[in-house]
Amino acid sequence: MRQFNVVVLGAGGVGKSALTVRFIRDVFVENYDPTIEEEYRRPITVDGQLDSLEVLDTAGAEQFTSLNEVYIKSGKGFVLVFSLTQEASLQELDNLRKQILRVKGGDARVPMVVVGTKLDLVNEREVQRHTIENLSRQWNIPFYETSAKRNWHVTEVFEDLLRQMRKY
Ligand code: GTP
Ligand code: MG
Repeated sequence: MRQFNVVVLGAGGVGKSALTVRFIRDVFVENYDPTIEEEYRRPITVDGQLDSLEVLDTAGAEQFTSLNEVYIKSGKGFVLVFSLTQEASLQELDNLRKQILRVKGGDARVPMVVVGTKLDLVNEREVQRHTIENLSRQWNIPFYETSAKRNWHVTEVFEDLLRQMRKY
């Protein structure tokens, strides 16, 4: 069994903690409590092989983003999170992606997954699927539309990332 360090990054309030806690504990966190920093660990079997994921849930709030470089150095794989209900949160991912590539020495194979959250809030949706598809293709990073509330496609995110990290 190997252990892989995953870092969850994205703007404030997009649903990083809800996604992480859904994956780790299979519950939905309804109330919004801004994160400073939380670390979780979970065993996971993918393709018949057991490994352990150490997931670092970071703060989206601007006063903490100076820490991102430290987090990026410590991480092997990255979950880039935005909210499907907030267009601006998607734009922030491009900066994060570039920062990751810079810190990792420009290596384009760095394991990453793009995650759109709050898929259940259909009436508040601002980001269309083709917009993400285009970016995902341009960046060469797989993407998932998820709901932590309904538990839609959450596990797939971490399974995809684990497969990338095993190969990297
Ligand atoms: P910071 O820690 O401040 O960076 O925020 P965050 O990205 O961790 O956001 P958090 O997970 O705390 O979620 C913010 C709010 O959105 C909370 O009230 C969550 O319950 C809500 N939320 C998160 N994911 C979903 C979802 O899939 N569906 C719905 N309906 N609400 C969600
Ligand atoms: Mg949080």
